[in-house]
Amino acid sequence: MSKEYVLRCVLMLCFALLSANASNWLYLAKLSSVGSIRDEETCERLRGLIQRQVQICKRSVEVMDAVRRGAQLAIDECQFQFRNRRWNCSTLESMPVFGKVVTQGTREAAFVYAISAASVAFAVTRACSSGELEKCGCDHNVHGVSPEGFQWSGCSDNIAYGVAFSQSFVDVRERSKGQSSSRALMNLHNNEAGRKAILSHMRVECKCHGVSGSCEVKTCWKAMPPFRKVGNVIKEKFDGATEVEQRKVGSTKVLVPRNSQFKPHTDEDLVYLDPSPDFCDYDPRTPGMLGTVGRQCNRTSKAIDGCELMCCGRGFQTQEVEVVDRCSCKFHWCCYVKCKQCRKMVEMHTCR
Ligand SMILES: *[C@@H]1O[C@H](CO)[C@@H](O)[C@H](O)[C@H]1NC(C)=O
Ligand SMILES: *[C@@H]1O[C@H](CO)[C@@H](O)[C@H](O)[C@H]1NC(C)=O
Repeated sequence: MSKEYVLRCVLMLCFALLSANASNWLYLAKLSSVGSIRDEETCERLRGLIQRQVQICKRSVEVMDAVRRGAQLAIDECQFQFRNRRWNCSTLESMPVFGKVVTQGTREAAFVYAISAASVAFAVTRACSSGELEKCGCDHNVHGVSPEGFQWSGCSDNIAYGVAFSQSFVDVRERSKGQSSSRALMNLHNNEAGRKAILSHMRVECKCHGVSGSCEVKTCWKAMPPFRKVGNVIKEKFDGATEVEQRKVGSTKVLVPRNSQFKPHTDEDLVYLDPSPDFCDYDPRTPGMLGTVGRQCNRTSKAIDGCELMCCGRGFQTQEVEVVDRCSCKFHWCCYVKCKQCRKMVEMHTCR
């Protein structure tokens, strides 16, 4: 065996281990500069992509910067939605970016897959509308006069393109495994549910034309909801996620609710296979398991952000901290607002 051959094998093994997690492409968010994915050669060097994603990257280099922005959007939205929970979506500098938390089939993993698939569809669609891409633009299938009597016009978001791209890029790993494992089925279902969160909340935005803003002529276009809305929808699905197991129906495998008394989940619901850990303690052997020591909590809340639950019964410390706020703001003619700076002491509670 040549030395080169051995090296290649070692590299491939490395690759197989690194690609053990289907959400590794989120690592693209760690690439800093815009436009850093310029040519096909860069695709080869990107960390976190599996071979079939590298091929898609090469075929669609111009779309990759939107994918990178999508990865960042997913991470930011996850951190916003989970800011008051024990697991708060912290990222690591290594792969997978959320650590061990997403390698099991938990509810949290379900959220991460859904928000990631949605964010790629969203970011690519945005890039289409903004005229950044040659491959796609506005959705010209939306035209003519609507039944309500307004004129379709302007740039309708080409969500079909974004969704199709997300399906091919994000779902590729699960599809290449032949969709046989229950985990692949779970990921695919949640990816699709994430994209549905955009599709089922598309809105119509309109502009009035006519003398001094009168609405003699109204032109409208189809627009995606703000991504925060998408995050809120998926977070609600997280709260009501269904625990499922794999069952064989004929020759195909499907996921069915573990508790047969529950009504079956829909395409828009999230599903999970494994119960979540309690996320209470730091575990050096489990990357991403940071525990809740030092986390801020709310003394009066009975929910998960309350000190009792957040601190897992370990108790909390209270500090007086000074916060500076704008106050007694006055409007001056014309046209500015002047405020005073007020200092006040507030109590801050952190978990022991
Ligand atoms: C998340 O929690 C960790 C500790 O568990 C903390 O260091 C970090 O600042 C938190 N991040 C956010 C965004 O609140
Ligand atoms: C703490 O929780 C209470 C009750 O849920 C809520 O009304 C209050 O706004 C929370 N305080 C902060 C600082 O979030």
